[in-house]
Amino acid sequence: MAEAPTPTTEELAAAGLRLEIDGPVATITLARPERRNAMTGRTWTMLAHIGHSLPPSVRIVVITGAGPSFSAGIDLAMFGPDDVDGEPSLLRTIRERPEDRAAVEAVIAGYQAGFLWLRRPGIVSVAAVRGHAIGAGLQLALACDVRVLSDDARLCMKEPALGLVPDLTGTKPLVDLVGVNRAIELCLTARTVGAEEARELRLAELVVPGAELETAVEDLVAALLATPAAAATATKALLTRAPGSSLADQARAERAAQTDLLVSLAAATGTEAGRS
Ligand code: ACO
Repeated sequence: MAEAPTPTTEELAAAGLRLEIDGPVATITLARPERRNAMTGRTWTMLAHIGHSLPPSVRIVVITGAGPSFSAGIDLAMFGPDDVDGEPSLLRTIRERPEDRAAVEAVIAGYQAGFLWLRRPGIVSVAAVRGHAIGAGLQLALACDVRVLSDDARLCMKEPALGLVPDLTGTKPLVDLVGVNRAIELCLTARTVGAEEARELRLAELVVPGAELETAVEDLVAALLATPAAAATATKALLTRAPGSSLADQARAERAAQTDLLVSLAAATGTEAGRS
Protein backbone atom coordinates (compact mmCIF):
# COMPACT_ATOMS: atom_id res chain seq x y z
CA MET A 1 0.00 0.00 0.00
CA ALA A 2 1.27 3.47 -0.86
CA GLU A 3 1.63 5.56 2.31
CA ALA A 4 0.77 8.96 0.81
CA PRO A 5 -1.65 10.28 -1.82
CA THR A 6 -0.24 10.73 -5.32
CA PRO A 7 0.79 14.38 -5.74
CA THR A 8 -1.26 16.43 -8.16
CA THR A 9 0.11 17.70 -11.45
CA GLU A 10 0.06 21.23 -9.98
CA GLU A 11 1.98 20.20 -6.86
CA LEU A 12 4.53 18.41 -9.02
CA ALA A 13 4.89 21.39 -11.36
CA ALA A 14 5.48 23.72 -8.39
CA ALA A 15 8.42 21.49 -7.49
CA GLY A 16 9.72 21.43 -11.07
CA LEU A 17 8.68 17.84 -11.68
CA ARG A 18 6.38 15.68 -13.79
CA LEU A 19 5.32 12.14 -12.93
CA GLU A 20 3.88 9.53 -15.24
CA ILE A 21 2.89 6.09 -14.01
CA ASP A 22 2.33 3.48 -16.68
CA GLY A 23 1.66 0.10 -15.04
CA PRO A 24 4.90 -1.04 -13.41
CA VAL A 25 6.96 1.91 -14.69
CA ALA A 26 7.04 5.37 -13.11
CA THR A 27 8.84 8.12 -15.00
CA ILE A 28 9.90 11.21 -13.08
CA THR A 29 10.90 14.12 -15.29
CA LEU A 30 12.91 17.07 -14.01
CA ALA A 31 10.86 19.72 -15.76
CA ARG A 32 12.41 23.18 -15.57
CA PRO A 33 14.31 23.12 -18.86
CA GLU A 34 14.47 26.92 -19.00
CA ARG A 35 16.60 26.68 -15.82
CA ARG A 36 18.39 23.53 -17.02
CA ASN A 37 16.28 21.60 -14.50
CA ALA A 38 17.87 23.35 -11.54
CA MET A 39 16.30 21.99 -8.36
CA THR A 40 15.18 23.53 -5.07
CA GLY A 41 14.44 22.02 -1.67
CA ARG A 42 10.85 21.67 -2.82
CA THR A 43 12.01 19.40 -5.66
CA TRP A 44 13.70 17.05 -3.20
CA THR A 45 10.89 16.95 -0.66
CA MET A 46 8.50 16.27 -3.53
CA LEU A 47 10.78 13.44 -4.70
CA ALA A 48 10.47 11.97 -1.20
CA HIS A 49 6.68 12.38 -1.40
CA ILE A 50 6.65 10.56 -4.75
CA GLY A 51 8.64 7.73 -3.15
CA HIS A 52 5.99 7.39 -0.44
CA SER A 53 3.07 7.62 -2.84
CA LEU A 54 4.02 5.17 -5.60
CA PRO A 55 1.69 2.19 -5.87
CA PRO A 56 3.36 -1.09 -4.89
CA SER A 57 2.84 -2.32 -8.45
CA VAL A 58 5.60 0.07 -9.62
CA ARG A 59 8.82 -1.87 -10.18
CA ILE A 60 10.90 0.56 -12.23
CA VAL A 61 11.49 4.28 -11.67
CA VAL A 62 13.08 6.20 -14.53
CA ILE A 63 14.43 9.68 -13.82
CA THR A 64 15.02 11.90 -16.79
CA GLY A 65 15.38 15.59 -17.61
CA ALA A 66 13.40 17.78 -20.00
CA GLY A 67 15.50 19.69 -22.52
CA PRO A 68 19.25 19.59 -23.10
CA SER A 69 20.42 18.96 -19.50
CA PHE A 70 19.62 16.28 -16.95
CA SER A 71 20.06 18.87 -14.18
CA ALA A 72 22.26 21.89 -13.44
CA GLY A 73 22.05 20.99 -9.74
CA ILE A 74 20.70 23.20 -7.01
CA ASP A 75 18.97 26.38 -8.12
CA LEU A 76 21.69 28.88 -7.31
CA ALA A 77 19.01 31.30 -6.08
CA MET A 78 18.75 28.96 -3.05
CA PHE A 79 22.05 30.53 -1.92
CA GLY A 80 20.66 34.05 -2.33
CA PRO A 81 18.74 36.16 0.19
CA ASP A 82 15.35 36.05 -1.56
CA ASP A 83 12.59 33.48 -1.85
CA VAL A 84 12.70 31.18 -4.87
CA ASP A 85 9.17 31.02 -6.33
CA GLY A 86 7.71 31.43 -2.85
CA GLU A 87 10.12 28.95 -1.24
CA PRO A 88 12.51 30.40 1.37
CA SER A 89 16.11 30.23 0.16
CA LEU A 90 18.54 28.08 2.13
CA LEU A 91 20.42 31.16 3.20
CA ARG A 92 17.25 32.79 4.51
CA THR A 93 16.23 29.63 6.38
CA ILE A 94 19.60 29.52 8.10
CA ARG A 95 19.76 33.25 8.81
CA GLU A 96 16.40 33.04 10.55
CA ARG A 97 17.74 30.38 12.95
CA PRO A 98 21.54 30.78 12.98
CA GLU A 99 22.04 28.92 16.28
CA ASP A 100 19.77 26.01 15.46
CA ARG A 101 22.07 23.45 13.85
CA ALA A 102 19.58 20.66 14.48
CA ALA A 103 16.94 22.52 12.47
CA VAL A 104 19.33 22.92 9.52
CA GLU A 105 20.28 19.25 9.66
CA ALA A 106 16.59 18.34 9.77
CA VAL A 107 16.01 20.37 6.60
CA ILE A 108 18.89 18.55 4.89
CA ALA A 109 17.56 15.18 6.11
CA GLY A 110 14.26 16.06 4.43
CA TYR A 111 16.12 16.74 1.20
CA GLN A 112 18.12 13.50 1.49
CA ALA A 113 14.88 11.53 1.82
CA GLY A 114 14.19 12.48 -1.80
CA PHE A 115 17.29 10.53 -2.83
CA LEU A 116 17.38 7.62 -0.37
CA TRP A 117 14.19 5.83 -1.42
CA LEU A 118 15.55 5.23 -4.91
CA ARG A 119 17.71 2.47 -3.40
CA ARG A 120 14.86 0.41 -1.95
CA PRO A 121 14.84 -3.22 -3.05
CA GLY A 122 11.33 -3.34 -4.53
CA ILE A 123 12.20 -0.95 -7.36
CA VAL A 124 15.01 -0.55 -9.85
CA SER A 125 15.82 3.12 -10.42
CA VAL A 126 17.28 4.23 -13.73
CA ALA A 127 18.78 7.66 -14.48
CA ALA A 128 18.60 8.68 -18.14
CA VAL A 129 21.22 11.41 -18.36
CA ARG A 130 21.48 13.79 -21.28
CA GLY A 131 23.85 16.76 -21.16
CA HIS A 132 24.87 18.20 -17.81
CA ALA A 133 24.43 16.47 -14.46
CA ILE A 134 26.02 18.91 -12.03
CA GLY A 135 26.18 18.85 -8.23
CA ALA A 136 22.77 17.76 -6.93
CA GLY A 137 22.00 16.57 -10.47
CA LEU A 138 24.95 14.19 -10.38
CA GLN A 139 23.99 13.08 -6.87
CA LEU A 140 20.49 12.28 -8.13
CA ALA A 141 21.96 10.15 -10.92
CA LEU A 142 24.23 8.47 -8.36
CA ALA A 143 21.19 7.66 -6.19
CA CYS A 144 19.84 5.50 -9.00
CA ASP A 145 20.72 1.83 -9.49
CA VAL A 146 21.59 2.17 -13.19
CA ARG A 147 22.81 5.18 -15.17
CA VAL A 148 22.28 5.36 -18.92
CA LEU A 149 24.18 8.31 -20.42
CA SER A 150 23.89 9.92 -23.80
CA ASP A 151 27.28 10.53 -25.36
CA ASP A 152 26.99 14.27 -24.69
CA ALA A 153 26.63 13.74 -20.92
CA ARG A 154 28.84 15.88 -18.72
CA LEU A 155 29.13 15.07 -15.03
CA CYS A 156 30.53 17.35 -12.34
CA MET A 157 30.53 17.22 -8.53
CA LYS A 158 30.57 20.98 -8.12
CA GLU A 159 29.75 21.39 -4.42
CA PRO A 160 33.30 21.77 -2.99
CA ALA A 161 34.06 24.46 -5.58
CA LEU A 162 31.12 26.40 -4.12
CA GLY A 163 32.37 25.96 -0.55
CA LEU A 164 30.05 23.04 0.23
CA VAL A 165 30.09 19.27 0.52
CA PRO A 166 27.99 16.89 -1.56
CA ASP A 167 25.25 16.18 1.01
CA LEU A 168 22.47 14.61 -1.02
CA THR A 169 23.65 11.03 -0.43
CA GLY A 170 26.18 11.18 -3.28
CA THR A 171 29.47 10.58 -1.48
CA LYS A 172 28.88 6.88 -0.77
CA PRO A 173 27.88 5.74 -4.26
CA LEU A 174 30.66 7.88 -5.72
CA VAL A 175 33.32 6.23 -3.55
CA ASP A 176 31.77 2.77 -4.00
CA LEU A 177 31.97 3.23 -7.78
CA VAL A 178 35.25 5.04 -8.41
CA GLY A 179 37.22 4.48 -5.19
CA VAL A 180 38.20 7.04 -2.58
CA ASN A 181 41.25 8.43 -4.41
CA ARG A 182 39.43 9.14 -7.68
CA ALA A 183 36.49 10.53 -5.72
CA ILE A 184 38.82 12.97 -3.95
CA GLU A 185 40.29 14.03 -7.29
CA LEU A 186 36.87 14.49 -8.91
CA CYS A 187 35.28 16.38 -6.01
CA LEU A 188 38.20 18.59 -5.05
CA THR A 189 38.92 19.68 -8.60
CA ALA A 190 35.20 19.80 -9.52
CA ARG A 191 36.27 18.88 -13.03
CA THR A 192 33.77 17.79 -15.64
CA VAL A 193 33.75 14.16 -16.74
CA GLY A 194 32.51 13.31 -20.22
CA ALA A 195 30.42 10.25 -21.05
CA GLU A 196 33.27 8.01 -22.18
CA GLU A 197 35.36 8.70 -19.09
CA ALA A 198 32.22 8.22 -16.98
CA ARG A 199 31.87 4.73 -18.44
CA GLU A 200 35.55 3.96 -17.76
CA LEU A 201 35.10 5.15 -14.16
CA ARG A 202 31.98 2.97 -13.78
CA LEU A 203 29.79 6.06 -13.35
CA ALA A 204 27.71 4.86 -16.31
CA GLU A 205 26.38 1.37 -17.00
CA LEU A 206 25.62 2.32 -20.61
CA VAL A 207 26.59 5.16 -22.96
CA VAL A 208 24.57 5.59 -26.15
CA PRO A 209 24.28 8.17 -28.94
CA GLY A 210 21.95 11.01 -27.93
CA ALA A 211 19.28 10.02 -30.45
CA GLU A 212 19.12 6.53 -28.91
CA LEU A 213 18.77 7.44 -25.23
CA GLU A 214 15.00 6.91 -24.96
CA THR A 215 15.12 3.60 -26.88
CA ALA A 216 18.04 2.35 -24.81
CA VAL A 217 16.14 3.12 -21.61
CA GLU A 218 12.98 1.46 -22.95
CA ASP A 219 14.97 -1.67 -23.86
CA LEU A 220 16.57 -1.73 -20.42
CA VAL A 221 13.20 -1.32 -18.70
CA ALA A 222 11.72 -4.17 -20.77
CA ALA A 223 14.64 -6.44 -19.84
CA LEU A 224 14.30 -5.54 -16.14
CA LEU A 225 10.56 -6.23 -16.20
CA ALA A 226 11.13 -9.67 -17.72
CA THR A 227 12.63 -10.83 -14.40
CA PRO A 228 10.03 -12.03 -11.86
CA ALA A 229 9.33 -9.30 -9.27
CA ALA A 230 10.04 -11.32 -6.12
CA ALA A 231 13.36 -12.59 -7.46
CA ALA A 232 14.34 -9.09 -8.60
CA THR A 233 13.57 -7.60 -5.18
CA ALA A 234 15.41 -10.32 -3.27
CA THR A 235 18.41 -10.17 -5.61
CA LYS A 236 18.70 -6.37 -5.38
CA ALA A 237 18.54 -6.62 -1.59
CA LEU A 238 21.33 -9.23 -1.61
CA LEU A 239 23.56 -7.32 -4.02
CA THR A 240 23.09 -4.05 -2.15
CA ARG A 241 24.21 -5.52 1.16
CA ALA A 242 27.12 -7.47 -0.33
CA PRO A 243 29.85 -4.77 -0.14
CA GLY A 244 29.36 -4.36 3.61
CA SER A 245 29.06 -8.08 4.40
CA SER A 246 31.50 -10.87 5.08
CA LEU A 247 31.38 -13.88 2.77
CA ALA A 248 29.86 -15.99 5.54
CA ASP A 249 27.19 -13.38 6.24
CA GLN A 250 26.40 -13.01 2.59
CA ALA A 251 26.16 -16.80 2.12
CA ARG A 252 23.72 -16.90 5.06
CA ALA A 253 21.64 -14.12 3.49
CA GLU A 254 21.61 -15.97 0.15
CA ARG A 255 20.32 -19.12 1.85
CA ALA A 256 17.57 -17.24 3.66
CA ALA A 257 16.46 -15.35 0.54
CA GLN A 258 16.50 -18.49 -1.59
CA THR A 259 14.51 -20.42 0.99
CA ASP A 260 11.83 -17.68 0.99
CA LEU A 261 11.58 -17.86 -2.80
CA LEU A 262 11.56 -21.67 -2.88
CA VAL A 263 8.84 -21.84 -0.20
CA SER A 264 6.68 -19.43 -2.22
CA LEU A 265 7.39 -21.39 -5.40
CA ALA A 266 6.49 -24.67 -3.69
CA ALA A 267 3.27 -23.18 -2.31
CA ALA A 268 2.33 -21.85 -5.76
CA THR A 269 3.15 -25.22 -7.37
CA GLY A 270 1.10 -26.99 -4.70
CA THR A 271 -1.84 -24.71 -5.45
CA GLU A 272 -1.45 -25.41 -9.16
CA ALA A 273 -1.22 -29.18 -8.55
CA GLY A 274 -4.28 -29.02 -6.28
CA ARG A 275 -6.22 -27.30 -9.05
CA SER A 276 -5.37 -29.88 -11.74
N1 ACO B 1 20.40 27.59 -10.89
C1 ACO B 1 19.61 28.54 -11.40
N2 ACO B 1 19.54 28.84 -12.72
C2 ACO B 1 20.32 28.10 -13.55
C3 ACO B 1 21.15 27.08 -13.08
C4 ACO B 1 21.17 26.82 -11.68
N3 ACO B 1 21.92 25.85 -11.15
N4 ACO B 1 21.78 26.54 -14.14
C5 ACO B 1 21.35 27.19 -15.22
N5 ACO B 1 20.47 28.14 -14.88
C6 ACO B 1 19.78 29.08 -15.75
C7 ACO B 1 20.74 30.12 -16.32
O1 ACO B 1 20.94 31.16 -15.39
C8 ACO B 1 20.04 30.53 -17.58
O2 ACO B 1 19.04 31.46 -17.23
P1 ACO B 1 18.74 32.72 -18.21
O3 ACO B 1 18.20 32.10 -19.47
O4 ACO B 1 17.72 33.49 -17.44
O5 ACO B 1 20.04 33.41 -18.39
C9 ACO B 1 19.34 29.24 -18.02
O6 ACO B 1 19.30 28.39 -16.88
C10 ACO B 1 20.12 28.51 -19.10
O7 ACO B 1 21.45 28.34 -18.63
P2 ACO B 1 22.73 28.60 -19.57
O8 ACO B 1 23.91 28.77 -18.69
O9 ACO B 1 22.44 29.69 -20.57
O10 ACO B 1 22.75 27.19 -20.35
P3 ACO B 1 23.98 26.42 -20.93
O11 ACO B 1 23.43 25.24 -21.64
O12 ACO B 1 24.88 27.35 -21.69
O13 ACO B 1 24.83 25.92 -19.66
C11 ACO B 1 25.12 24.84 -17.54
C12 ACO B 1 24.29 24.95 -18.82
C13 ACO B 1 26.53 24.31 -17.85
C14 ACO B 1 24.38 23.83 -16.68
C15 ACO B 1 25.27 26.21 -16.84
O14 ACO B 1 23.99 26.83 -16.80
C16 ACO B 1 25.80 26.16 -15.43
O15 ACO B 1 27.00 26.02 -15.22
N6 ACO B 1 24.91 26.28 -14.42
C17 ACO B 1 25.29 26.35 -13.02
C18 ACO B 1 25.66 24.97 -12.48
C19 ACO B 1 25.94 25.00 -11.00
O16 ACO B 1 26.91 25.60 -10.54
N7 ACO B 1 25.10 24.30 -10.20
C20 ACO B 1 25.23 24.19 -8.79
C21 ACO B 1 25.99 22.90 -8.46
S1 ACO B 1 26.22 22.62 -6.74
C22 ACO B 1 24.82 21.79 -6.18
O17 ACO B 1 24.00 21.35 -6.95
C23 ACO B 1 24.62 21.62 -4.65
